Amino acid sequence: MAQDALLAPSVGEACRGHFLFGAAVNGYMLRDERHRQLLRRQFTSLTAENEMKPERLLDREATLALGDPVRCGLRFDSADRMLDFARESGLRVRFHTLVWHNQTPRWFFAEDWSDAPDAPLADAETVLARQESYILQVMAHVNTAYPGVVYCWDVVNEAVETSQGGEDGLRTRSLWYETTGSAFLAAAFRTARRGQAEGQQLFYNDYNSYFPDKQAAIGKLLRRLQAEGLVDGMGMQTHMELRRWNLPAFEAGARAYAELGLVLHITEMDIHCPGADAESQAALARAYGDFFAMLLRLEREGAQIGSATLWGVTDRFTWLRFFRKEDSYPLLFDADMRTKPAFDAVLAAVMG
Ligand code: GLA
Repeated sequence: MAQDALLAPSVGEACRGHFLFGAAVNGYMLRDERHRQLLRRQFTSLTAENEMKPERLLDREATLALGDPVRCGLRFDSADRMLDFARESGLRVRFHTLVWHNQTPRWFFAEDWSDAPDAPLADAETVLARQESYILQVMAHVNTAYPGVVYCWDVVNEAVETSQGGEDGLRTRSLWYETTGSAFLAAAFRTARRGQAEGQQLFYNDYNSYFPDKQAAIGKLLRRLQAEGLVDGMGMQTHMELRRWNLPAFEAGARAYAELGLVLHITEMDIHCPGADAESQAALARAYGDFFAMLLRLEREGAQIGSATLWGVTDRFTWLRFFRKEDSYPLLFDADMRTKPAFDAVLAAVMG
């Protein structure tokens, strides 16, 4: 039976004692009181859909005003609005993301911070120094203004893409890679270790991370970072599709990451489902229920599962609809903020 999400039992509460239950949130949701209430009732963790990405934090005017070749200027207005909401709501925050090839402006990598489309790129030493300036300033701001709110950092997002032919399966079509080779990876984690606050964990995050070739490349990267004591957890994004659902493959992949001794986070889960009809939504519910039962099974085996985050809140606002332009009904709450069968299935799975 569909229920009003604000009156239904709380999945976040049901997950307590196991892991945090999170949602990716955007600025619109924070301006809508019903969304704010839903987030407070149903979730215990929050990820900013875009507000904590480099393109939102880097400020070119402020950077130029500093007149320094490596120190960057930042603005925190949109990130702070989200951190304020999280703090006043008692939600913990996954910080997403410090280093990524996407949604980072090209001028950050260019000589003299030039924004000309064909400006020459800065040398490796300069880019690495800029990276350090960026990471330390962001962490210092968040940890000073919002102590205890952020519990983990996606230090690097999506640095592996085996289809691009790069050494060790690393993504080559990335300005990080073009300017520094693979050096930016360990450098980012070393810097984040210096900037982190007590109790915070450092994550590597990626999609399709259980596909065998990708898992092998990510595993190699993680072991290299672990040898230096630089990484605490693996974030599996988990954008899935109902018609390609393969839970055994996912489970094997997740188990392999857990066996490295890393904390596991499900960071961006949704299951693309093009049908709103009862049959499609029943299939979606089975997939979600099986998935959360699988997480508890891994936990019983000894895996450390820190959080499970859905990429969105209701079927009304999902990146599958707005960004991928797909007709999709992939989440636990419908457009009217009522619970779906998938909600009941997740709740039943975590209540055991
Ligand atoms: C990737 C990123 C997310 C988000 C999604 C699409 O998975 O990690 O931040 O941009 O793509 O919305």
